[in-house]
Amino acid sequence: MVAALDGSSVDLIDISGRTYFPGAKSASGGAGKGPYFIEFAKRARAVTAKPLMLTGGFKTRRQAEDAVASGAVDMVGLARALVLEPCLADLWNAGQKPEPVFPRFSDAPEGGITAWYTMRLTEIGAAMETQDFGDLGQVIRDYEGRDKRRTEVWLRHFANDDAE
Ligand SMILES: Cc1cc2nc3c(=O)[nH]c(=O)nc-3n(C[C@H](O)[C@H](O)[C@H](O)COP(=O)(O)O)c2cc1C
Repeated sequence: MVAALDGSSVDLIDISGRTYFPGAKSASGGAGKGPYFIEFAKRARAVTAKPLMLTGGFKTRRQAEDAVASGAVDMVGLARALVLEPCLADLWNAGQKPEPVFPRFSDAPEGGITAWYTMRLTEIGAAMETQDFGDLGQVIRDYEGRDKRRTEVWLRHFANDDAE
């Protein structure tokens, strides 16, 4: 795929996501130690001259710098780290520490930690984020309640579409 895109007009290839295997754990729930697609990125580098971005598993500035310095990629993408600290790029540029503190939840159900990040993004969007990591069980209930309300809205909307 990457080799095929090399001959196309795309400006940038971002290597991200996790896996297509059914039942595989989600990336955002894992307690990984670093970028998990770096070897894949090195293989991609060998078959394309396009600018490459690597997303997934970056937790420290050092990891991000190493990935770029290795020559494998031109830039890194951050998801959870930016949810935890939206000003992270500025802090890194200013040489400030500490690194973002990733929450640890014991016995989190599959999908539960992604729900936590989703609700955290919702809080940030509403300028209502707090410093504490909250109770995961409550977050999942909020997340499910939000989805239920959204589903009702969508169903009403599409039901109306059908009627037109
Ligand atoms: C709130 C949230 C929602 C996500 N939703 C999806 C999704 O719908 N599809 C998907 O392939 N990956 C999803 N992911 C996983 C991301 O694609 C990605 O693998 C991961 O977050 C990589 O970056 P990070 O390690 O910096 O968080 C989600 C991650 C988070 C934190």
